[in-house]
Amino acid sequence: MQFSQFGITDIKVSRICLGTMTWGEQNTEQEAWEQLDYATGKGVNFIDTAELYPVPRREETQGRTEEYIGNWMEARGNRDKIVLATKVMGRSDMPWFRPFTDITRLNREQITYALEQSLKRLKTDYVDLYQLHWPDRPINLFDQSRGYKHIEDDDAVPLEETLGVLDDLVREGKIREVGLSNETPWATMKCLHHAETRGLPRVQSVQNAYNLLNRLYEHGLAEVSHREGVACLPYSPLGGGTLSGKYLGGALPEGSRRQLFGRFTDRYQKVNTDDAVAAYKALAEEHGLSLVQMALKFVDSRDFVTSTIIGATTMAQLEENMAAFELAWTEELEQGVSRIFEKYPNPAP
Ligand SMILES: NC(=O)c1ccc[n+]([C@@H]2O[C@H](COP(=O)([O-])OP(=O)(O)OC[C@H]3O[C@@H](n4cnc5c(N)ncnc54)[C@H](OP(=O)(O)O)[C@@H]3O)[C@@H](O)[C@H]2O)c1
Repeated sequence: MQFSQFGITDIKVSRICLGTMTWGEQNTEQEAWEQLDYATGKGVNFIDTAELYPVPRREETQGRTEEYIGNWMEARGNRDKIVLATKVMGRSDMPWFRPFTDITRLNREQITYALEQSLKRLKTDYVDLYQLHWPDRPINLFDQSRGYKHIEDDDAVPLEETLGVLDDLVREGKIREVGLSNETPWATMKCLHHAETRGLPRVQSVQNAYNLLNRLYEHGLAEVSHREGVACLPYSPLGGGTLSGKYLGGALPEGSRRQLFGRFTDRYQKVNTDDAVAAYKALAEEHGLSLVQMALKFVDSRDFVTSTIIGATTMAQLEENMAAFELAWTEELEQGVSRIFEKYPNPAP
C-alpha cells in the first residue's frame, strides 16, 4: 500500500480511503466488517463516513454506518491504527437529524451536537478528520453544478463562525483536523485566509466528486491543492458505478445502485455520459484493462490527489477496485483519456 502525507499535518493516509456509505442500506454489518477486515489487511488505514450515512438518507437507517464502524473498531481494538474521517451535515431540511430543529445548519449548537452523536456511534472520543459535508450557504451542488447561478445567502452561517466552533472542538481534543466537502475554490481559500489571519483551524482537505466523467476539481481546486497543500480526497471515482460500464445500453443490473435508487444516480445519466463511458471502456480494453481499473487508476494517478475514496457493495468489487491501484499509468493511457476528454468534457458534473 502506498501512503500520502495528509495536508500539512504529520498524518499519513493510505492512497486508498475506504468509503462506507452503503453500509446499513445495501450492505449488512457483517459485510461492512468483511470489507473493513479485507481493506485494513491490505494496508488501508483511512476510512470515510458521515453522520448522514447510509444512503439514500432515511430516518430509520441514519447513523447505522457509523455504528458499524464503531462496533468493528471496538471488536478489533484498533482505533489508534485508523485515520477516521466523518462529516457533519451542511444546511438541509431533513428534520430527523436534530431533536431541537428541522433544519440542519453549521452553527455552534448543531455542530457540537452532531459531533457528540458521531463520537457515541463511533465508540471513540475523537475523530481524525471532521468534514463539513456541504456548505451552509446555498450553492449549486451535486447534479446542479453546470454553470454558476448566484443564490443570495444573507443568513448563511459565516465560515469564520463555523471554523470558530471547530477550533474549540480541536482544543477539546475531539477533532484532530478539519476538512471541507462539496466545496469551491472560493470557500477553501477563504478558510485558509481565516486560519492565517485569525488562528482558526487550517482546512486540510477537500472531498469532492472527481472521476473521468467529472473533472471539475481541476478547474481551480487542483491548483489550491498543489499550492496550499490542501489534500484532495476524490469521492465517487467510478461515478457511482457508471464507470464500470454496467449501465451501458440502458442495462439495469438487479441490485445495483441505479436499479435500487434511480433518482439518486441522476447525476450520472446526462447527455453524452453513455457515449463517454463507451469510449473509455474501449480504451481500457485496448490496453488490456477493465474500465473499472482504468477509471480508478486515472484518479489515483493525478498528482493533486491525496487518497481516493472507493466504494463497493461486494467483496469481488472491493478486490477488483483495490487491485487497480497496483497498476501502472502509462503515457498511452494519458493520451487516450485526453482525446476522449476533449470530445466529452465533464458530461456528469
Ligand atoms: N462527500 C460526499 O458528498 C460524498 C458523496 C458520495 C460519496 N462519498 C464517499 O465516497 C465513497 C465512494 O463513493 P461512491 O460509492 O459513489 O464511489 P464509486 O466508486 O463511484 O461507486 C461505488 C459503487 O459502484 C459500484 N461498483 C463498485 N465497484 C464496482 C465494480 N468493480 N464493478 C461494478 N460496479 C462497481 C457499487 O455499487 P452497486 O453494486 O450498487 O452498483 C459501488 O457501491 C462513499 O462511500 C463515501 O464515503 C462522499
